[in-house]
Amino acid sequence: MQDSLVDTYGRRVTSLRMSLTNRCNLQCIYCHNEGESGSGKEIAVDEIARLARIASKYGVDRVKFSGGEPLLRRDLEDILRALPPLRDVSLTTNGTLLAPRAKKLKDAGLDRVNVSLDTMNSSRFDCITQRKGQLGHVMEGIDAALDAGLTPVKLNMVYLKGINEDEVEHMIEFVRGRPLVLQVIELMNFHGTFKYHADISALEKSLKARADDYRCREMHRRTKYYLQGAEVEIVRPIDNSEFCMNCNRLRVTSDFKLKPCLLRNDNLVNLRGLDDDELEKALRYAVGIREPFFKATPIAIPKKAEKATSDN
Ligand code: 5AD
Repeated sequence: MQDSLVDTYGRRVTSLRMSLTNRCNLQCIYCHNEGESGSGKEIAVDEIARLARIASKYGVDRVKFSGGEPLLRRDLEDILRALPPLRDVSLTTNGTLLAPRAKKLKDAGLDRVNVSLDTMNSSRFDCITQRKGQLGHVMEGIDAALDAGLTPVKLNMVYLKGINEDEVEHMIEFVRGRPLVLQVIELMNFHGTFKYHADISALEKSLKARADDYRCREMHRRTKYYLQGAEVEIVRPIDNSEFCMNCNRLRVTSDFKLKPCLLRNDNLVNLRGLDDDELEKALRYAVGIREPFFKATPIAIPKKAEKATSDN
């Protein structure tokens, strides 16, 4: 391995999070759409493969694909097959289109999936996603992912005030004793959705009190609780300087730009049309300009991104 990608804050980039498309077949009320607004031509198989190959020379060993909805890309299996060997290749999906493709994705090299599942109540699901009748497909998708061995299957539950706070226990029962992990995520306010923001500390406290064991993951300093065979992780991105200080990922937009921070759009680095040498330089440059959004010392938070950050 050549020297690795370390930014001026000493944070090493080991993971790429690539948005494959801006398109989505759901319209979740809170969605941050990976902080993207671009709508250029979608990133091509060859662009992904070249970037991943160059990044992997510098110690990047994980790739996560997201969207929009990445399964809207018919060529996702080709994308997976074009990747260099990596330690962990995962996908964040809404799960609606997963069932018929889970096995093919596994065969093409996908290791595991994260499925967004905020509720298991179908009328609530319709409200959150602003679509009708999709929950059944998502549940089939989760089963198919388990059957195909895309495990552990992580379920992303955005904690929404007045909508799903009462479902955490049911979700814990659902994951217990199976290769499923529940990730309860604090809402980041992107579209005036702050009315749905619920404080997650009381929940975390009660999990801690009941847990047989817990462990702090280095990535984002998330705590994982073990509750009689159920694994539950709490993700608290807001105003969390530790979350940012432990960030090891670099984002790639669906129109092939490097995006050093989910919460900023003023420092994107274009990659389109670059040859391998230029791509390598651009990668180093983007790492060089990375900075934590929430820093350890109190800072004034720009109005636009008042409530914020990231992923899983
Ligand atoms: N707040 C927190 N998490 C979000 N996600 C999307 N929008 C938000 C938001 N506003 C997460 C969900 C989804 C993943 C793609 O991104 O967990 O599963």
